Amino acid sequence: LDNGVGLTPPMGWLSWLRYNCTTECDKYPTECISENLIKRTADAMASEGYLEAGYQYVIIDDCWPEKTRGADGRLVPDQARFPSGILELSRYVQSKGLKFGIYEDYGNLTCAGYPGVLGHEATDAATFAEWEVDYVKLDGCGSPDSDTGYPMFGQLLNETGRPMIYSCSWPAYQSHPNYSAIAKACNIWRNYGDIENTWASVVNIMTWFGDNQDEFVQMAGPGNFNDPDMLVIGNSGVTVDQARVQMAVWSVLAAPLIMSVEVAGMEPEFKEILLNKDVIAVNQDPLGKQGLRVWTGPDKQDQIWHRELSGGARALAFVNIGETAALASYTYEQMKLPSQDFTVQDLYKEDEEMTLKAGEDFKVKINSTGVKFYKFLPILKKTEEALSRENEI
Ligand code: GLA
Repeated sequence: LDNGVGLTPPMGWLSWLRYNCTTECDKYPTECISENLIKRTADAMASEGYLEAGYQYVIIDDCWPEKTRGADGRLVPDQARFPSGILELSRYVQSKGLKFGIYEDYGNLTCAGYPGVLGHEATDAATFAEWEVDYVKLDGCGSPDSDTGYPMFGQLLNETGRPMIYSCSWPAYQSHPNYSAIAKACNIWRNYGDIENTWASVVNIMTWFGDNQDEFVQMAGPGNFNDPDMLVIGNSGVTVDQARVQMAVWSVLAAPLIMSVEVAGMEPEFKEILLNKDVIAVNQDPLGKQGLRVWTGPDKQDQIWHRELSGGARALAFVNIGETAALASYTYEQMKLPSQDFTVQDLYKEDEEMTLKAGEDFKVKINSTGVKFYKFLPILKKTEEALSRENEI
């Protein structure tokens, strides 16, 4: 969607994976979906380095409104959990230099049974603009006709004059999505099922994206990105190695980097992964070109993911899904590299910088359920003229 926002994949935080639809604030005061959770998260994102690294959007997922609309037909935030109202909350988030996002659904009810936008589309789009929302996630539970509904709601958002990232779940509910229509109407879109807090779920999503990439990879570009769902990093479900895999592959995929975690006081080894500026730079590369899974070994245990970056550079993630460490050697052909020399930098900083000569095999050692993630920078051959000038000096 060409609305001036989301020129690189949005980065931020969403409540769902970590906090789900916890509404009992008496029982779970720090876990429930409430203005306190959003404020606490915004504070930590601004003060603990996340905003500086690029994580900008703080987004409330499902379960924020009252179960019934107001007498005027408008959505009302849960009075007990959001006593200050949404406008106050979005202004609080924005006062930290962050941006604010909200969730709705193109059906009668959201996936968790709260009022959906169906029949109230114009009112809700206008309400979001009044609340100074910067990002709208529109889910698809109970959607009667996504192919008309999603573009129509996007149009209504546009007509408010307030630029908002429009995140659609449209293709996730269809077996043969019309990706060019989706890319025209939405900034980002969820292609596939929900991520869970497990390594198996991360692998499942990676496998699906690799197997189906030809259907949607060409849709990615500034303002348009495929969304494999939230980062599970920092929760209990994945190890440090597995977290590095997710961060690397999501960066190759030009995927939105949306955390869902207790941000305040995160364990340093996970925080370091989320804040790795070289990896984030791959994700945010201005070309906006999505990478591909270019090679898989037997049973897809070993995989090479390859993304073209601006300036002729490339990011390559060598993933080992297997339970034992892998020692492998790859040809230029397997890595889909053009025949030239490269300087190779380890983005997780374990290996020293290397030089790879055109045609040489590249050797990697990868931890079990782990990744090696490198940036390949072309070494430009000096012209004869430049060489002779150097000789003269
Ligand atoms: C769906 C979405 C999730 C989340 C829940 C909320 O399952 O895919 O990301 O928004 O609904 O109910």
